[in-house]
Amino acid sequence: MKFYVTTPIYYVNAKPHLGHTYTTIAADVGRRFHDMKGEETFFLTGTDEHGDKIVKAAAKNNESPKTYADRISDLFRKIWPELNVSFDRFIRTTDPDHIAVVKHILTKIFDSGDIYFSEYEGLYCYDCERFYNTRELIDGKCPDHQTKPAIIRESNYFFSMGKYQDWLIDHIKKNPDFIRPERYRNEVLGFLREPLEDLCISRPKTRLTWGITLPFDKNYVTYVWFDALINYISAIGFPDGKEFKKFWPYANHVIAKDILKPHGIYWPIILKAAGIDIFRHLHVHGYWNIDESKMSKSIGNVVDPIYLKETYGTDAIRYFLMREMSFGLDSNFSENAIITRINADLANDLGNLFSRTLGMFHKYFKGVVPKREAPDKPGFELDLKSAAITTIENFCLSMEHFEFHKALSTVWEFISVMNKYIDTTAPWELARRKSGQKELTVVIRDLLEGLRVVSGLIYAVMPETASTMQTHLGLDRKRPFFLLEEISKWDVLSAGSVLPKSTALFPRIDVDRIETGNETSGDSPLPDIKPQIEINDLLKIDLRAVKVLDAEKIKKSDKLLKLTVALGDSTRTIVAGIAKTYAPSDLIGKTVIIVANLKPVKLMGVLSEGMVLAAVEDDGCAVAITDRAVAPGTPLR
Ligand code: ME8
Ligand code: MG
Repeated sequence: MKFYVTTPIYYVNAKPHLGHTYTTIAADVGRRFHDMKGEETFFLTGTDEHGDKIVKAAAKNNESPKTYADRISDLFRKIWPELNVSFDRFIRTTDPDHIAVVKHILTKIFDSGDIYFSEYEGLYCYDCERFYNTRELIDGKCPDHQTKPAIIRESNYFFSMGKYQDWLIDHIKKNPDFIRPERYRNEVLGFLREPLEDLCISRPKTRLTWGITLPFDKNYVTYVWFDALINYISAIGFPDGKEFKKFWPYANHVIAKDILKPHGIYWPIILKAAGIDIFRHLHVHGYWNIDESKMSKSIGNVVDPIYLKETYGTDAIRYFLMREMSFGLDSNFSENAIITRINADLANDLGNLFSRTLGMFHKYFKGVVPKREAPDKPGFELDLKSAAITTIENFCLSMEHFEFHKALSTVWEFISVMNKYIDTTAPWELARRKSGQKELTVVIRDLLEGLRVVSGLIYAVMPETASTMQTHLGLDRKRPFFLLEEISKWDVLSAGSVLPKSTALFPRIDVDRIETGNETSGDSPLPDIKPQIEINDLLKIDLRAVKVLDAEKIKKSDKLLKLTVALGDSTRTIVAGIAKTYAPSDLIGKTVIIVANLKPVKLMGVLSEGMVLAAVEDDGCAVAITDRAVAPGTPLR
């Protein structure tokens, strides 16, 4: 198998925004997944540069259409590598090889009799660059741009689509996954229930010259869709190029629902009329909205991808976009949603798993990968190996269907299984017992292997994080550890190898420190707490959840309690000024939060090795207690 994936070619009448970014990253993720399968892949993106609205945008900037198109096209070409998207070709509709193919296909269809000349009057939306029939309009306006279409009456060339209508209906019915997800397949079948109108494919040069001259009438240029759609084959060398032969049978187009009709109807019919096999899949996603309305250049509510990259990092943005939007449905954009995803999924779930596992590994094995010294399943209920295999299977199924949100949630389920595995196997308990040493090798090894699987699976979405994790797992960078074949193996890490000390994968984001770029962040819900500190200052404080084993009053003091707490495998004494509110028995068995690295001090003759955190009021206090028991000594982040 091979894989050829395309994005729409974007109009150069505005800069790239988050909507374009989503489609392009989705296509990149799809391509990387097929790289993981070991397939040969080809990724195409580019810009759509002809037509009325480009001419208008250029005029507004006092530039010629060509100078203007060069400049904006360059913005698109340069932004994708910044987001770790790598394309094999960036096509422009002004490229000479593209123009030649458009002319070739026009000639072919004209010669076969499917293009005719006629006078026509119709309702035209310049932003969509197509005619609308009255049934498609809402309150007389274009449903996408909310503008009244112009009435245009002129003589033009038309492409008769009607005779291919039954063939297309039949093709869609026979190939249920030709258009995905299903809702868009149904929408196209819905359009096809009405007789298809013929497609206007030209503009008289008296009105527009910025286009490709028709090979059979030099007084006309071709109309945008006929020009634009053909990019998908001109870019790979139609008709005789080696890339065209190799990749066209595996074509996957990715678009949003705004251009469903051109892709679901015009394009297959153009291909059919020209005698070319049609593409394999059309993947259609929904809109990123802001406050319920579509993010778009015509409304002006766009989000700048570079601002997001600089504020949150490329991998975090790629993760957010793929995880937050259910492919096919609309999604609401907000920076708060990004921060929530980063803090919960990346810093907490993945980041914690990574640092807990490597922390224990370095502590118990001094950074040397242990040999597995007990049977595969030393009596633990959870078996990470079989959980990993199921995860990989489900992940692949979802990725195959462009259900990126599902694929990621499958990986995150596995991450939470691993976090639970740590809690139930309690490696710190095993480490304490002599008899636990063999089991400990299995637990830590399996956790490291599980992290290796996670690092491989996230490669498609977060290539940088995958690579950082793999470095810390000591994987040989020369071996392609993103290949599914490699990922699916177990016990890959070689015993005896030494792993580097780990770093935090994703620091948590402090909401109050972010100046939001597009929305009213409002005032901080907390009272102003000053002075502000850097995240590194906060990380100096070693906060731990510890279990209170014992508590007693300190004689001659009405304020102090002496607590004995469990922290990992040791105990500590902490003196706390909470006796006015708490009796000793109130706290025994509870898990409280302490500052563990405070210099010890003697209070009323008792050495206090840390401090219990509590909210302090004038007349008492409330001790910070975790809402469920966690392993004693669990760090807070
Ligand atoms: O239509 N949410 O170009 P275009 C999600 N040149 N995706 C969005 C989006 C949003 N709010 N806004 C834009 C054209 N997009 C033609 C295409 S193809 C042969 C010619 C993305 O610049 C999405 O992929 O208007 C949508 O289909 C595309 O940008 C439209 O880009
Ligand atoms: Mg558009």
